[in-house]
Amino acid sequence: MNKQEMRFNNQIQRAVEDFVQMFCANKGELAAHKITLEADDNQIAKLKKIGIPAKGCPIDKAVTQMMEDVYKYRARVNHPRFFGFVPGPVSMLSWLGDIMTAAYNIHAGSWATSSAASCIEQELIGWLCEQAGYTEKSGGLFVSGGSMANMTALTAARDTILKEETRHLGVAYVSDQTHSSVEKGLRIIGIPNTRIRKIPTDGCFRMDVEQLKNAIKADIADGLIPFVVIASAGTTNTGSVDPLPEIASLCQNYGIWMHVDGAYGASVLLTKKYKYLLKGIEAADSISWDAHKWLFQTYGCSMVLVKNKANLFNTFNTHPEYLKDLEAKEDQINYGDMGMELTRPARGLKLWFTLQVMGSDAMGAAIEHGFQLAEWAEDELKKKRDWEIISHAQLAIVNFRFAPSGITEEQADELNQKISKAIIDNGYAGVFTTELNGKKVLRICAIHPDTTESDIRNTVRLLNEYAQEFYLPLRAIS
Ligand SMILES: Cc1ncc(COP(=O)(O)O)c(C=O)c1O
Repeated sequence: MNKQEMRFNNQIQRAVEDFVQMFCANKGELAAHKITLEADDNQIAKLKKIGIPAKGCPIDKAVTQMMEDVYKYRARVNHPRFFGFVPGPVSMLSWLGDIMTAAYNIHAGSWATSSAASCIEQELIGWLCEQAGYTEKSGGLFVSGGSMANMTALTAARDTILKEETRHLGVAYVSDQTHSSVEKGLRIIGIPNTRIRKIPTDGCFRMDVEQLKNAIKADIADGLIPFVVIASAGTTNTGSVDPLPEIASLCQNYGIWMHVDGAYGASVLLTKKYKYLLKGIEAADSISWDAHKWLFQTYGCSMVLVKNKANLFNTFNTHPEYLKDLEAKEDQINYGDMGMELTRPARGLKLWFTLQVMGSDAMGAAIEHGFQLAEWAEDELKKKRDWEIISHAQLAIVNFRFAPSGITEEQADELNQKISKAIIDNGYAGVFTTELNGKKVLRICAIHPDTTESDIRNTVRLLNEYAQEFYLPLRAIS
């Protein structure tokens, strides 16, 4: 190493130390921060003005710039009172695993370039498959997120069930609660909207199996080929789990691939108390499972698992002349042959690292805590007047709505939107809206292991205070 390189290395080391110190100090203040901080017009103008310099600047100046001008302006999705969408309650262990892995910049597309990391990913995938009830032929891949996991599985489904000449006849089945990434993925792999059937759900937001069966029969009668049913294990809106055993037997009868989108809910497999809720998942041909949701990992970390790993390999393997030196031997796996990415980071390492330190029992207990949080929210709501529970607490999600009698549906929609905005602007908690049965509702998704009972009850109390305040003028009129 020459003198200049040594000087630069020392600077990097100091910058890393400074960053870690600043980051950890900030983390300690997390509870005091607002849930979201959006860059205002001035800040955006400032960022746009920075530009790309012809001559660089000292590292510490650029680090400070990142801390002060970039990272500060974000939704704190890892805050214990961020309850929107699917929060990202990231474990510091994952964070450490992530930066360690990034530091070594491992090419995990082939065994030859990442033998130890590929072996760990293989072992971890094997263990996750076991949790899902899969047997020895199973396998899978770490990908960037649920959208990618869904599309990867759907591509394997298409190639396994349809022939190239019959692809245009293939039909896919989702429910009206299936995550939008599934339809997006289907369109990307060449299944048009006219070949995607949206099956209605029952009163508990679970796919109606009778209607699914009727739709399959009607399509067969029309000369089409049903090739994949996408069941959900934990829908985004309500946490509902589709009737997996019934859907599995229907798929088996008709020779259809069953995919389970467990991006949100598959983590429940690691709990002792609630694992039974996912019974039937073992019959699925493929499963999506996000580690950056309820396994507390940094973005992006997700798994696609398949009952028969040959189905992923058959779709994705390639053997160009410039990769011949990287051919895998028997018992080795080239993960570049199992999915879309050739060059890929070893995403599984941070999850493996987290599990090594925490242990899977503690991980299971942390997941179970979320169930309790949503139940506390429902309990507190039931004590208040004029609140309706739209979907009961399940898989750490509860949906509800302030709907006093005497106001119209439109007024109730507006009121709930205003309540959400008020609590976010206040900065105490992130409670966002969704729509169920055509109504605007408030939704709490509570999966942070550090969220307390008082966090939950105080959030509901504050929502109720805003509800009363905004309802007052309406009450006067009605
Ligand atoms: C059920 C479900 N599937 C898929 C996705 C998409 O996952 P990602 O955002 O990681 O692509 C989500 C995201 O919330 C989800 O809840």
